[in-house]
Amino acid sequence: MRRILVTGGAGFVGSGFVHHLVAHTDASVTVLDKLTYAASRDALRALPPSRVQLVVGDVADADVVGPLVAAHDAVVHYAAESHNDNSLDDPAVFVQTNVVGTFTLLEAVRRHGTRLHHVSTDEVYGDLDLEDPQRFTESSAYDPSSPYSATKAGSDLLVRAWVRSFGVRATVSTCSNNYGPWQHVEKFIPRQITNVIDGQPPKVYGAGRNVRDWIHVDDHASAVWTILTRGRIGETYVVGADGERSNLEVARQILEHFGRSPGDLDLVADRAGHDLRYALDSAKLRTELGWAPQHRDFEAGLASTIEWYVAHEDWWRPHKQAVEASYAAKGQ
Ligand code: NAD
Ligand code: DAU
Repeated sequence: MRRILVTGGAGFVGSGFVHHLVAHTDASVTVLDKLTYAASRDALRALPPSRVQLVVGDVADADVVGPLVAAHDAVVHYAAESHNDNSLDDPAVFVQTNVVGTFTLLEAVRRHGTRLHHVSTDEVYGDLDLEDPQRFTESSAYDPSSPYSATKAGSDLLVRAWVRSFGVRATVSTCSNNYGPWQHVEKFIPRQITNVIDGQPPKVYGAGRNVRDWIHVDDHASAVWTILTRGRIGETYVVGADGERSNLEVARQILEHFGRSPGDLDLVADRAGHDLRYALDSAKLRTELGWAPQHRDFEAGLASTIEWYVAHEDWWRPHKQAVEASYAAKGQ
């Protein structure tokens, strides 16, 4: 795999994968990205232009996608609208990018016989009770809750059908919540870090009991590379790092990092349809393909992520006011 096309490679998770490719392989990389509000050219700026090329375009545009797919050995598909709250406000663009975009890509890889890895989410499996001893595995039923997760589930099912009906060489991964550098301030961890930097309280939805299973973005990147190179065609792999924490626990840890009282937070209006808990069992990926996460200490990873946001205020500051105004209008 000398030439790899990465859709959505200017976003949070996709850019982490592009960094991984440059650091750990000798592949040349083309990023196809529409550069929506969520994208960041800065996340790619440190990478050598001899290794990484950016093409600005829409993954749902067959005229752009076709020639790019034809010129690469493999495609890794991250491009998506990714924020649940936005999908509740305006689902149309989620259907267009996440479903029609994936369909467009599938037709191109079918035509050119190109290997595809489709990056999906644990949210396709719905949610778990707080006390449920089961965790999600590859055989968990699809049961998405939000417009975002429904479009991701739809895209996964398209991939499965294109594998079975047309022999497309594809794999799917369903990963849990990522944290680390370059995540947009609309998302939970960056929003709360930047609130505390601004002297504001973290804004926690509902009672804050909801649990997410956190994984460092670099570990997601190594998992995707492992699946792309060693995964079995047609298979799905759950990606998780055993990082379950409640939202209250995470918000309190951020406050404590800055020497603030752990009780100094605001409980705000809940998200409609808010999934209660995600928890993943990634035994298949670990035993079959030998993958393991490197960032096993969530508290240490969160501390270094906080320090990254402290050091990169010039990057997130231009977006902060508009994001907070939009949340405030919804009582969040
Ligand atoms: P993000 O919103 O930070 O980045 C998405 C990127 O896709 C942006 O660069 C954006 O410009 C690009 N994009 C959007 N629409 C496009 C279009 N029509 N054509 C081309 N590019 C387009 O999202 P993220 O958090 O980095 O998530 C990336 C992928 O990883 C998504 O598919 C998401 O479902 C999946 N994922 C994310 C997480 C997580 O915790 N962030 C976990 C599991 C899976
Ligand atoms: O599980 C994987 C998914 O993780 C990805 O597929 C999504 O693309 C990604 O955005 C993320 O989805 P979540 O909805 O879990 O992430 P978010 O950061 O929006 O919220 C995390 C938790 O924090 C969730 O329970 C909602 C809550 N929350 C969020 C925000 C923005 C708050 O309590 N307060 C907030 O201000």
